[in-house]
Amino acid sequence: MILVTGGAGFIGANFILDWLNEPKAEGIINLDKLTYAGNLANLDSLKNDPRHIFIQGDISNQGVVTQILKDYQPRAIVNFAAESHVDRSIHGPAEFIQTNIIGTFNLLECARAYWKSLPEAQKMNFRFHHISTDEVYGSLSLLSPAFTEAHPYEPNSPYSASKAASDHLVRAWFHTYGFPVVTTNCSNNYGPYHFPEKLIPLVILNAINNRPLPIYGDGQQIRDWLYVGDHCSAIRAVLANGRLGETYNIGGHNEKPNIEVVKIICQILDEIKPRVDGKSYAQQIEFVQDRPGHDRRYAIDASKIKHELGWQPKETFQTGIKKTVQWYLDNSRWVENVLSGTYRDWQKKHYGQE
Ligand code: NAD
Ligand code: TYD
Repeated sequence: MILVTGGAGFIGANFILDWLNEPKAEGIINLDKLTYAGNLANLDSLKNDPRHIFIQGDISNQGVVTQILKDYQPRAIVNFAAESHVDRSIHGPAEFIQTNIIGTFNLLECARAYWKSLPEAQKMNFRFHHISTDEVYGSLSLLSPAFTEAHPYEPNSPYSASKAASDHLVRAWFHTYGFPVVTTNCSNNYGPYHFPEKLIPLVILNAINNRPLPIYGDGQQIRDWLYVGDHCSAIRAVLANGRLGETYNIGGHNEKPNIEVVKIICQILDEIKPRVDGKSYAQQIEFVQDRPGHDRRYAIDASKIKHELGWQPKETFQTGIKKTVQWYLDNSRWVENVLSGTYRDWQKKHYGQE
């Protein structure tokens, strides 16, 4: 068994679906608080799969986490649970401090107590895998080399600062207590089940709903986009063979300015779902006020994970974005539930959580 936290969110759900796609895969306990970003519909296909055990709860809750570890005796923890949206962190940072820092601290402490109690062989094999972001490294200028694992931490938003703090806790638990951790720092993901407050799903859905496509500032900010399935395979590689106490950067070699990303999405939609008036979706683009403290460029040097673990992304941006646009067109029920908030009513009824 492994324990996944935040498995009802975008990347966590993709990770669980991917993992359990393998018929002989070991089971997963999924601990998720079901915030606005957690959606059990992401895991609908596992409804009758006994290998997926869902538990609604908070990683900051010592009693809940301790009980789960006692009951299920996982051999590893993969910590996805987090508040993840930069814009929300600007307007309300408190939840980010609570979940990303205090929550990770609580998870580490509960897991350390559990790990200490394990027989020697299980203790040796135990792993705590912390999922983090390239945003902890701050912003790059256009000509700077991409982030390596040795790049200084210079977070600029409440989100990235809270993730940086959690990374430091994880690192300290390794150095101080010998607790067996690995950390991965990944670039921007995109793909199925991405909550439509983030750029790529927002643009796809706004486009087909005839709404403006908001571009912050001049649209020249660069992100290094990675298809979520490639992130999942990288996590599996690090969990299986990553060296203890190490961090691994994960990236897609797909640096693109936001404006270019939006134009590519418009072109794909122009081909596969043309506007009724025959005009391009690009005419819906609107430049809007910039995000405060907006990082100019992120880029990942993923050579360490490539050389040590043989991992490379399979998707190019062209192949990944086409699949993603098509997924949003094919999954209108999921989209409607998310946009109308129906999934939250359902979750509230079943789990008492909005
Ligand atoms: P998401 O916002 O889609 O999902 C987060 C999940 O965590 C949700 O299901 C939510 O209900 C759950 N959660 C939130 N607070 C919780 C708590 N206190 N206890 C238990 N569960 C809680 O996020 P995502 O995009 O899937 O990101 C997952 C992880 O990957 C995060 O740690 C994020 O920092 C990291 N990351 C994301 C990206 C990206 O592009 N999305 C890139 C690099 C790293
Ligand atoms: P986002 O998907 O929020 O991810 P992050 O802030 O973690 O990188 O944003 C990706 C980029 O797109 C970022 O530079 C901000 C920009 N952006 C827009 O221009 N318009 C939007 O409506 C959103 C949500 C983001």
